[in-house]
Amino acid sequence: MKNNSFGLDISERAFRLVQLKKINKKIKLVSFSYQAVPKGVLKEGKIVDSKKAEVIIDKLINNVTGQKLISKVTNVCLPEQKTFIKLINLDYPEGKNILEEIVQEAKKHIPYSINEVYLDWQYIDPRDKTQVLIGVCPKEIVDNYQEVLTNSDLVPCSLEIEAVTLARSIFSFKEKLTEPVMVLDLGARRTGLFIYAHNVIPFTISLSFSSDGLTEIIRKQLKITSKEAEKVKRSLGLNSSKAEGYSEKLIAPEIKKIAKKIREANYFYQEHFKTQKSIKKLYLTGGGSQMPNLDTFLTKETKMKVHLTNPLTNVSLDKVKLPENQVASYATAIGLALRNLNT
Ligand SMILES: Nc1ncnc2c1ncn2[C@@H]1O[C@H](COP(=O)(O)OP(=O)(O)OP(=O)(O)O)[C@@H](O)[C@H]1O
Ligand SMILES: [Mg+2]
Repeated sequence: MKNNSFGLDISERAFRLVQLKKINKKIKLVSFSYQAVPKGVLKEGKIVDSKKAEVIIDKLINNVTGQKLISKVTNVCLPEQKTFIKLINLDYPEGKNILEEIVQEAKKHIPYSINEVYLDWQYIDPRDKTQVLIGVCPKEIVDNYQEVLTNSDLVPCSLEIEAVTLARSIFSFKEKLTEPVMVLDLGARRTGLFIYAHNVIPFTISLSFSSDGLTEIIRKQLKITSKEAEKVKRSLGLNSSKAEGYSEKLIAPEIKKIAKKIREANYFYQEHFKTQKSIKKLYLTGGGSQMPNLDTFLTKETKMKVHLTNPLTNVSLDKVKLPENQVASYATAIGLALRNLNT
């Protein structure tokens, strides 16, 4: 079995790399790296300036903290705004060509033409052949990513949806979750919400909120610089007792919108997934999850048990250490690197 594995997180404003190594059943962090990405390199998930992206990947690989990369094989996520998953119901599929049934049914639900996408599928429950989860991504995007990676002298070994990757980094391999849970990923440019149930991601949505967008609201309202607004966001958060109610005026209304989406997703899950039970636990990840008091605020608004997560849950501490305030931002890169090691 391969002992080294690396993951490459391609986000709109940042590329991150993590290399892990398995030694005596222990998974250790051996290197990491970060490069900021200027505007215009990626647009709506597509790499539109391939040349610049390749230069950034090159810098990322040549400026790692820790050991040099020893492999060219990498795992990458597909852009969340372009991937689409949907639970479809099949009538009495016994005796029918399952793939044909799936394709016919998928055509009714996906926002693309079936010829334009790559399609993947799985049963939610292997005993129930009437419920199938499909995942699609436009071929244009997959080919676009593959081309940039190949030009960077890398070998893409997997392209997967980000929710799958995040679940791998934040949930323990040893203590399996016994009930469905929800995960909120608060990134710089986008916010993802997904459900994780028995190793399957039956539901994901993208919310219009973004952590950088929140900074922008604060900047405009308080007429301060972006840097100052970022400081206000990080120090104030949802602390209502501080700073003359700014938190209640500026930050709380935005987080209430997120809470509403979470409650709606919970109803949707109960109605569409043959379950009468609501989801009780919400896990937070992404840089924006570090906002002070966010967990207690969301507990109140959603009536769920809210937990902060550690993307290094499956990684043992060693010499190479990620800066503490950046660990949450590395969740995707860590999850990608873990892909080949979780056996
Ligand atoms: N302590 C903190 N309190 C509040 N917000 C924070 C804190 N630390 C980081 N953030 C916010 O987290 C965001 C960055 O999150 P993250 O690193 O997960 O984004 P990303 O993965 O680069 O972007 P995306 O996933 O949107 O492409 C920024 O908006 C930043 O302001
Ligand atoms: Mg992210």
